[in-house]
Amino acid sequence: MAKQNIYDREDFFTWFRNNRDNELNFNDCVETPVLMEMLPDLRGKKVLDIGCGMGQHAKQYSLMGAGSVLGIDISENMIRYAQEHNAAENVSYRRLAMEDIGTLTERYDLITSSLVFDYAEDFESLMRSIRGLMDEDAELVFSMSHPMATAWDGVYDRYTRTETGERLYANIHNYGIEGLRKVDWPREGYEYYHRTVSSLINSMVGAGLEIEECRESIVPEELRTMRPDLFGGTVHKPDFIFFRCRKGQI
Ligand SMILES: C[S@@+](CC[C@H](N)C(=O)[O-])C[C@H]1O[C@@H](n2cnc3c(N)ncnc32)[C@H](O)[C@@H]1O
Repeated sequence: MAKQNIYDREDFFTWFRNNRDNELNFNDCVETPVLMEMLPDLRGKKVLDIGCGMGQHAKQYSLMGAGSVLGIDISENMIRYAQEHNAAENVSYRRLAMEDIGTLTERYDLITSSLVFDYAEDFESLMRSIRGLMDEDAELVFSMSHPMATAWDGVYDRYTRTETGERLYANIHNYGIEGLRKVDWPREGYEYYHRTVSSLINSMVGAGLEIEECRESIVPEELRTMRPDLFGGTVHKPDFIFFRCRKGQI
């Protein structure tokens, strides 16, 4: 299976780190609050965070009372940053691709992932591997880019605008055509996989997961009013989709 590792490209990593360091970033303002609301009580739980990035979530889970947290990521840059900046006694980080999680030998009470599954070529196979790592009562809580946001390939502007440049509506391009998309945003050579909502759901169900909750991000009005240049387009399409699942029967 193809594995992209663009976060080890220095220009991309620098862009991502600067973006994450900026107080008004989409992760902290739009995505993370919803993900955190969907988490169960973490006290004593054994947690696996797939695509842990710089380790902010893993460290947060430890502060929320998790018994232990393992953060895995394909990127050497990310793992190094996480170890240097988000270490905690019960948090460990390991360089491992999500495609290879079948090599993990332990089981987890909670598996999380934040904006990583966009890069999975075979989503159903990933869901099956995750199910295999879940203890009987375990939960999977994850976010990814919303299919309405990934139905874009850089050919057209994201938005149709008024003559004065205001966003009128989002341009959804080839929603029904799934697969690899290559765009030059946020940096040249960026690749992700677009899937329809039904395809995501059917892959989870097909892999033996029971979906308990699904949410879509909506940016609070005060943020949209404060920074329309950044958040103004978010009423036209949701940016992120979230799922909470349990291990179902197969
Ligand atoms: C958008 S960042 C999110 C990072 C972190 N979860 C957060 O919320 O800040 C995507 C992360 O997925 C990681 N990633 C991409 N492809 C991966 C793969 N095949 N296996 C594991 N991690 C991967 C990247 O290295 C990067 O750290």
